[in-house]
Amino acid sequence: MVNQDNQGLQENRVFAPPAEFVANAAISGMDAYNKLCAEAAGDYEGFWARLARENLDWHKPFTSTLDESEAPFYKWFADGELNVSYNCLDRNLKNGNAGKTAIIFEADDGKVTRATYQELYEKVCKFANGLKSRGIKKGDRVVIYMPMSIEGVAAMQACARIGATHSVVFGGFSAKSLQERIIDAGAVAVITADEQMRGGKHLPLKTIVDEALALGGCTTMKDVIVYKRTGGNIPFVEGRDTWLHDLVDAQPAECEPEWVGAEHPLFILYTSGSTGTPKGVQHSSGGYLLWAALTMKWTFDLKPNDVFWCTADIGWVTGHTYIAYGPLAVGGTEIVFEGVPTYPNAGRFWETIDKHKVSIFYTAPTAIRSLIKAADVDPKVHPKNYDLSSLRLLGSVGEPINPEAWMWYYKNVGREKCPIVDTFWQTETGGHMITPLPGATPMVPGSCTLPLPGIMTAIVDEAGQDVPNGQGGILVVKRPWPSMIRTIWGNPDRFKTSYFPEELGGRMYLAGDGAIRNKETGYFTITGRIDDVLNVSGHRMGTMEIESALVANPIVAEAAVVGKPDDTTGESICAFVVLKQARPTGEEAKKLALELRNWVAKEIGPIAKPKEIRFGDNLPKTRSGKIMRRLLRVLAKGETITQDVSTLENPAILEQLKEAS
Ligand code: WTA
Repeated sequence: MVNQDNQGLQENRVFAPPAEFVANAAISGMDAYNKLCAEAAGDYEGFWARLARENLDWHKPFTSTLDESEAPFYKWFADGELNVSYNCLDRNLKNGNAGKTAIIFEADDGKVTRATYQELYEKVCKFANGLKSRGIKKGDRVVIYMPMSIEGVAAMQACARIGATHSVVFGGFSAKSLQERIIDAGAVAVITADEQMRGGKHLPLKTIVDEALALGGCTTMKDVIVYKRTGGNIPFVEGRDTWLHDLVDAQPAECEPEWVGAEHPLFILYTSGSTGTPKGVQHSSGGYLLWAALTMKWTFDLKPNDVFWCTADIGWVTGHTYIAYGPLAVGGTEIVFEGVPTYPNAGRFWETIDKHKVSIFYTAPTAIRSLIKAADVDPKVHPKNYDLSSLRLLGSVGEPINPEAWMWYYKNVGREKCPIVDTFWQTETGGHMITPLPGATPMVPGSCTLPLPGIMTAIVDEAGQDVPNGQGGILVVKRPWPSMIRTIWGNPDRFKTSYFPEELGGRMYLAGDGAIRNKETGYFTITGRIDDVLNVSGHRMGTMEIESALVANPIVAEAAVVGKPDDTTGESICAFVVLKQARPTGEEAKKLALELRNWVAKEIGPIAKPKEIRFGDNLPKTRSGKIMRRLLRVLAKGETITQDVSTLENPAILEQLKEAS
């Protein structure tokens, strides 16, 4: 292993994959990687067709691999038919995995529940039959607003089994956000729970569903199905609400899967863009599942005895691909964790890894950074105090991992024997795009290294021309790939303009991130979003959404939101606000800031609360009235403005906005 400790953290220290890993890996050594890349480059469609035949069970084999006739609305394996839940469940019963543990559920309070593949299969079939008994059928949309639970995964699988398209809404979103998603998706049902448990606290879910529906406009909604998680006392609406157990307990434990075309929409997942309301990212069945399964094998090198733990929530794409679908599609054993990393103390992750002998651990840099801090404060929760010898591979997702956090993770959690896969991808890409392969790629802290075989990433300038290595630019994908976004639900025009802009020729997928490739190695480093999307604790948020929420408050005249670098959360939200009343100061400003933060929590959800609010008499604007966000970003950081401000209408305002009111 090459490890030159005397070099600075920002330098290109290289960590070779451990030899024993290379020996057994699915993609073993760089030659194997290069061979796959060459296969894709030589016969792109043949490459994907081979993988789709080898990795999925097709009810009706496909004859067409890639259909570009309606580009950029690409179709993959379009005349093939399959069922996603069949591939995740029935297939495992046939492969001799019936008695194997599929899910280990670790509740907030540490209670453990297990489900074998046979048990999960029966649960999902009953669930699917229950949905059918309510008249829910192929093509209907179902919103899932569930806590982390076996039932949450079963709800997704049950929708897939009957061909209903699910849209999972993260439990941290407000009633209003939930209502907007129900309306946009035209959902016929919501599956929820009475309450969820997080960090010892009871959080209402059903009550928020009631509030969302009371806001009105959900004209397509007929059913609310409620999983009893805590037994908390919640109101019930006769005729509309059903307990999950009442719906499913008496159902048969078999349910013939609904065979769907490969392009059938498996799910819609809302995510933030730079403008407007959240976009309903629509994913396919065949292409999506292929990549979910294949990246489990390639990136995570999943073996039959592994215990895989992805700490994401099913409300985000990571929880879709690497909890609800990927691990099951390859017959893995996985942890589904209800709680939070800091309850009952900040050693929870390490304790849980030991408790369940987790071998592959996948989490977000924000969690790592907050646990580094926690271990500094309380040495008892340092990972060195736990037996982590079961670990063989670590992963990172959702935001750039800074080299310091990478090194800490590598040394203290992986004990210098576990490769780290720094996986770059997005809601829209369906699965990993750029990542080291644990048995092949030499790792460099802070770099997601190289694209997976078949993924044609490149860096271009604003005219769509390739830029040389060493020069930053715009990250694009030059060829369609099977698990890519198919459209924005109900808004194909927005799909085209957001992801296949004419300025880049209309055929390159625009990721929305900046990137740079290393001059010597060609390794990619993501330099951050190039649009108005923030990444706070690995959660994507549009500045416009937060601004709209703020100006919806009757006391607010104007608002501008920018990201500010944050040691723990990556970025934090800083809002500059002009009130209709005189600019508040002192206690009054504090009180109003608190009020506005709570307001944003109600409008969008607690995750969108600005960390800081600064009040001004005005915002810095050009003479044509454009808000100068660039300057606001400098002010938020607490740096001095060095740019020319002579074009500003009101340069004096900068002084006022320098610090909190
Ligand atoms: C960022 C999460 C650097 C990036 C799977 C991207 C990353 C956005 C990484 C997508 C990484 C994700 N290194 N940045 N390894 N992974 N990002 O849709 O800005 O919630 O565009 O998907 O997160 O966030 P999303």
